Amino acid sequence: MKRILVAGVSGAIGGALAAALLARDEESGEKSIVIGLCRDPLVVSEPLRSHSRLTLLVWNAEDERSPEAVVKALEKLVPAENGLDAFIYAAGLLHDGALFPEKRLEELQASSLARAFAVNATGFALLAQALLPWFRHRDFKRMVAISAKVGSIEDNHLGGWYAYRSSKAALNMLVRTLSVELPRRCKPIACVALHPGTTDSALSEPFRQSLAQLQVHSAIETAENLLSVIEKLTPEDNGRFVSWDGSSLPW
Ligand SMILES: NC(=O)c1ccc[n+]([C@@H]2O[C@H](COP(=O)([O-])OP(=O)(O)OC[C@H]3O[C@@H](n4cnc5c(N)ncnc54)[C@H](OP(=O)(O)O)[C@@H]3O)[C@@H](O)[C@H]2O)c1
Repeated sequence: MKRILVAGVSGAIGGALAAALLARDEESGEKSIVIGLCRDPLVVSEPLRSHSRLTLLVWNAEDERSPEAVVKALEKLVPAENGLDAFIYAAGLLHDGALFPEKRLEELQASSLARAFAVNATGFALLAQALLPWFRHRDFKRMVAISAKVGSIEDNHLGGWYAYRSSKAALNMLVRTLSVELPRRCKPIACVALHPGTTDSALSEPFRQSLAQLQVHSAIETAENLLSVIEKLTPEDNGRFVSWDGSSLPW
């Protein structure tokens, strides 16, 4: 993979993915470039932020005009005819000052649902739409949405987390729907939803105690796990919901 766009590069998993991609290339001698999208480039930690082959572009999943600004800036860095090899969507929202996962129906709020859908689902679809001209080339390309197992409808036995679960289920449906259209327009391609496994990050931090029984990976471990799945993808994987170890998850 030579030209990779990572949305959510300021996050633990997005940042670790970008760092791992750039480090791999240093080992192999292949000089790839990473375009990282985030709300505030200053939040991206060093030394990643200053890496010579990383370009940071400002993007906000909650601003529907943001993809247009991204493609304008991208056109100057990588003309559409040169194409991208991979688009990895690693942005996600589970909680912030104004939003926390619901335990019961009474906690459901229209604003939380709307924000979770904007960041966890709509942001991916609008970027996929804007980036389409970069996916028309003949080489194999990967479109990867970092999803979550809790977005699985079949696997939902615990309930709760209405906004996060339903927005990740929506993300999964967007992936599956794109996986039908994209091969007609951008062959060869694999568009997949990828569960990263429980990972130590700001997103999982408030649940650290309840996660104690689960296997929790560092972001660096997760990035390695995810890259080994992403690198092995083939057109036959198009439309799958995959876990960090390469196994299939139920939709
Ligand atoms: N950690 C886990 O255990 C776990 C488990 C299952 C799935 N996941 C998924 O993995 C992905 C990465 O999560 P993480 O653990 O790395 O969490 P994280 O460290 O909190 O990163 C979240 C990322 O999403 C970005 N983001 C949030 N709101 C945004 C907005 N409005 N516009 C643009 N970007 C926005 C954040 O940007 P800012 O820096 O600007 O806030 C940050 O880059 C998410 O999709 C998450 O749902 C994580």
